[in-house]
Amino acid sequence: MVKTKEFTLIDLEDIKLFINGEWVTAESNSFFSLKNPSTGEIVTEIPRGGRKEARNAIEAASTAFPKWAALTAYERADYLLKLKDLMLDNEAELASIMSIEMGKAYSEARGEVKYAASFLTWYAEEGRRIYGETIPASVSNKRLFVVKQPVGVIAAITPWNFPLAMMTRKLGPALAAGCTGVVKPASQSPLSAFAFAKLVELAGIPNGVVNIVAGATGEISDEIFENPEVKKISFTGSTEVGKKLVEKSAPQLKKLALELGGHAPFIVFEDADLEKAAEGALASKFRNAGQTCVCANRIYVHEKVKDDFAKILVEKVKQLKIGNSLDETVQIGPLVNEQGVQKVEEHVLDALAKGAVVLQGGKRYGEKGCFYEPTVLGNVTKDMKIMKEETFGPVAPITTFKDDQEVIREANDTIYGLAAYLYTSDISRAVKVSEALNFGVIGLNDGVPGTAQAPFGGMNQSGYGREGGHQGIKDYLEEKYISLSL
Ligand code: SIN
Repeated sequence: MVKTKEFTLIDLEDIKLFINGEWVTAESNSFFSLKNPSTGEIVTEIPRGGRKEARNAIEAASTAFPKWAALTAYERADYLLKLKDLMLDNEAELASIMSIEMGKAYSEARGEVKYAASFLTWYAEEGRRIYGETIPASVSNKRLFVVKQPVGVIAAITPWNFPLAMMTRKLGPALAAGCTGVVKPASQSPLSAFAFAKLVELAGIPNGVVNIVAGATGEISDEIFENPEVKKISFTGSTEVGKKLVEKSAPQLKKLALELGGHAPFIVFEDADLEKAAEGALASKFRNAGQTCVCANRIYVHEKVKDDFAKILVEKVKQLKIGNSLDETVQIGPLVNEQGVQKVEEHVLDALAKGAVVLQGGKRYGEKGCFYEPTVLGNVTKDMKIMKEETFGPVAPITTFKDDQEVIREANDTIYGLAAYLYTSDISRAVKVSEALNFGVIGLNDGVPGTAQAPFGGMNQSGYGREGGHQGIKDYLEEKYISLSL
């Protein structure tokens, strides 16, 4: 852990936006406060960028684009790998910064730095494999080709729950493809983005290739959507906001990738290894204190093994250490803010009023900060809010089922379709149920399926587009068909 006074990548006394390779204040000269959710103390003041700063950043990205696009994939890969090395060299500091701004437990934040860096490695390599095509012509005097070219300037609107990993999951493929861009980090976690910008500078990435503008979300996003220079936008956030962005993208038909909300079912069949299933539920549900889009939100356990599973899970949850996110031994940090805690409380109270029982936890924790105890609820039924809406907190609701068809029906009964999990030792059940679940990511006996080399994204109202894997670079490329008449 690095003490805040020892930060070298950012100066908490003087936070600035990063535009065209320069550190600048917002023209409005206004600021917003960033609070540490572990203590409630103000960490620093962030310049409130607006339309003007977004426009400058887009202009810088647009000016930088032709030169960056003209580099070879090998040259761009060298920059990305240098940036990855710098991230890993600064893992402790990046983790501390993330931890104080949005409350991720320090040890987990270190894991996120590695996860974030892995997207740079993967796309540095993948950029070298952007292959075109030749197509057999139907006449002898023609040759037909398809070439792939970067779309141009892109914008990445990133969430607070994975401040670094969601940025590199977007920027990695964009930069590898030859695009330049603007990042609008979430207002709850801009410091990680500025620390990353410092590394972009240290990696020698040319000015204007990466720009970071925090501040007035509405103004910045209006500029991003209205400025014709921006060709593609990748957004991670709520389904509600995603729908508004679809409307905003229509006038210019901007390419859009949306990684939106989820409400993941987690199914434990009677033949599952219960120890492994409970371990998976712990990882999926309590990662980032329950604040991930892929968190298990509804735990369906076969009625024959419900009590055994609940007992093992409760024992594991009891062991989780909650506390100040900077403490290296803590596993559950605070929630991102007071609204986050209130939503969790609302879901738990609603469930209890409708007949759920607390098996573990069930209340706020501590005198200060935004903590909620890691919680397990039993007797949960489908009429409860927690079974329909994203809780985004450390609450594991357990319900039961009798047969496969019933649980598949219940699991699919949601507007979302991001991630689903199932635990079974029956291979044909594993295949059949995986195929029947309408979700973009399936954790089959696996509580944490996300990885740089695999496609990540949702079905239904969890959005569209895929990030990660070879699929993740596609949206940053135009396919151009060239017909040559000899
Ligand atoms: C998310 O919750 O949006 C990301 C989770 C992951 O990449 O595993």
